[in-house]
Amino acid sequence: MGTRGHWVVTGGAGYVGGHVVRALHRAGLDQVVIDDLSTGVAARLPRGVPLVRGQVGDRDVLDACLPGAAGVVHLAAQTSAPGSVRDPLAHYRANVADVVTLTSAILDHGVDKLVASSSAAVYGATSGSAQLSRHTETDVLHPQSPYGKTKMIGEMVLADAVASGLSSIALRYFNVAGAATEVLADRKVGGLPSAVLQARRTGRPLPVHGLDHPTPDGTAVRDYVHAVDVASAHVAAVARLMDAALGASVYNVGTGVGSSVLDVLRVTAEITGGPVPHKIHGRRPGDPSHAVADVSAIARDLGWRARHDLGDCLQSAWETTGGHLLSRSHRTLASVS
Ligand SMILES: NC(=O)c1ccc[n+]([C@@H]2O[C@H](COP(=O)([O-])OP(=O)(O)OC[C@H]3O[C@@H](n4cnc5c(N)ncnc54)[C@H](O)[C@@H]3O)[C@@H](O)[C@H]2O)c1
Repeated sequence: MGTRGHWVVTGGAGYVGGHVVRALHRAGLDQVVIDDLSTGVAARLPRGVPLVRGQVGDRDVLDACLPGAAGVVHLAAQTSAPGSVRDPLAHYRANVADVVTLTSAILDHGVDKLVASSSAAVYGATSGSAQLSRHTETDVLHPQSPYGKTKMIGEMVLADAVASGLSSIALRYFNVAGAATEVLADRKVGGLPSAVLQARRTGRPLPVHGLDHPTPDGTAVRDYVHAVDVASAHVAAVARLMDAALGASVYNVGTGVGSSVLDVLRVTAEITGGPVPHKIHGRRPGDPSHAVADVSAIARDLGWRARHDLGDCLQSAWETTGGHLLSRSHRTLASVS
């Protein structure tokens, strides 16, 4: 992909960011990563991609990285929905105030292209028959957590910055899972796949929240999208912005396929060769029963679609977090005994 100038990637040492930087590197783009390494890992960056250790909200850091840039990919954020209930203002600072600082700096430096991480958390919970349909980008948003609200406001900032000359694409990722390599694996605990694999490894039962959701098997349904696919969506978004000035666009990044908690347990058991201990609990307030992407807009406009399924997500998450070693030792023990 030919481009004049480098791309500044914030949060490029993170879980999703590491996959994005790798994909943009393979596409031939020059990059500079800004990351404070609060949750990121420098070793995730390919050789030759410089890391500026600093914060997105620090104007001096931005002023050092933005001159001559072709565009920005913004992933750095406070990322925990439950954490945002405990500490909402940290999420507003990182996901709203820093987006305003970054957008102003981008425009001050004459840069006009921005790809930004958003989240399916902007959709929140719906009710009635709507709760089982796929989310489209034109749905009315009902974010439940402060995190979801901050992501929605971040999108609004980008939409309003069109008047100041910004072209942007916000990507609403659904549930990102899986990894390309060990160093790129997600080290945060939180998402269902990592909790399921943890339960499988330790034998401590996974809490399953609700068997009475209005879904086919009563457990909550999500759209698990592989980190490698999320990364290729960024390559497609960057290519689109380099093609034409666009205004502000928003796209879902998912597979369009819903998987229930019991589906995840079943596929994990198949991959790891043993059942996942779990215990049924009550539903969590505000937890959507069904969050699945309609992916027709991104397919139509960016020519992107996910290439990996739930099995690929779980298999790669298991292998890149050392789970296969456990399976192998189980097999070895089994063959010895
Ligand atoms: N992982 C998912 O399932 C998922 C789903 C939807 C949206 N997202 C969004 O994707 C983005 C990346 O998430 P992730 O899962 O890779 O999280 P992550 O914590 O692994 O990555 C975030 C990166 O940003 C860096 N960072 C955080 N605050 C910073 C700051 N103020 N200045 C500079 N660097 C900072 C961290 O060190 C880390 O490297 C976030 O915007 C998140 O909201 C993630």
